[in-house]
Amino acid sequence: MEKHGLLYEGKAKRVYRTNESGVLWIEYKDSATAFNGKKKSEIIGKGILNNEISTRIFSLLKSKGIESHFIERISSNEQLVREVSIIPLEVVTRNIVAGSFAGRLGLEEGAVLNKPIIEFYYKNDELGDPLLTEDHIEALEIASLDEVALLKEKALKINEVLSQLFLEIGIRLVDFKLEFGKTASNEIILADEISPDTCRLWDINTNQKLDKDVFRKDLGDLTLVYKEILNRLGGEFSHV
Ligand code: C5P
Repeated sequence: MEKHGLLYEGKAKRVYRTNESGVLWIEYKDSATAFNGKKKSEIIGKGILNNEISTRIFSLLKSKGIESHFIERISSNEQLVREVSIIPLEVVTRNIVAGSFAGRLGLEEGAVLNKPIIEFYYKNDELGDPLLTEDHIEALEIASLDEVALLKEKALKINEVLSQLFLEIGIRLVDFKLEFGKTASNEIILADEISPDTCRLWDINTNQKLDKDVFRKDLGDLTLVYKEILNRLGGEFSHV
């Protein structure tokens, strides 16, 4: 496989075309950003860690029948994925009150919700990714109501699988963000990444935050925390 021209550069990844149509080459960067890019830092090894963690999670989901764009990890910080047209929605699932949900509703962080909540945010940096209702999504023709129902169903299934996975390694899956894309045949599949950048992960015994909140709130060494997640997932980080 050959890496061709840069297609898109995001905050955490670069996406390249390849010599094979329908296959993209993703490079995970060492950049950490928060608050819509207002806080930024380079964290050596973060790209490698997220590539490895995301690879493990996408592979586990595949073994449970959940398709994603992931094809294979090809180097420490690169992977090949299927090309999809990204649906401009951030699909957030919450099991425990935290983050913007706690802030918006004035709730105490840490309360367990009596059922998982699914929220949709419009992927738009200029607008600061606003929260959308299902009516907004339909009226703005971002997706149909049937598609919204499918996204919810997929997010809830992924929540079940990932909550169990993390429970087995002593971690509570507090909340997480997913992105989905459409294949050439209009099938909706999971895309982007699943990593401590996109999930809130708390140690089950100590409630220690093992995710990007460490960077957002200056709680300590992000690399150490991401290494801890990779180790618990059965991986080893030996590059830096
Ligand atoms: O900030 P908020 O509480 O809405 O985030 C919910 C979840 O979605 C968190 O796990 C956060 O890391 C993730 N998220 C993300 N990318 C965003 C916004 C939120 O991965 N742009």
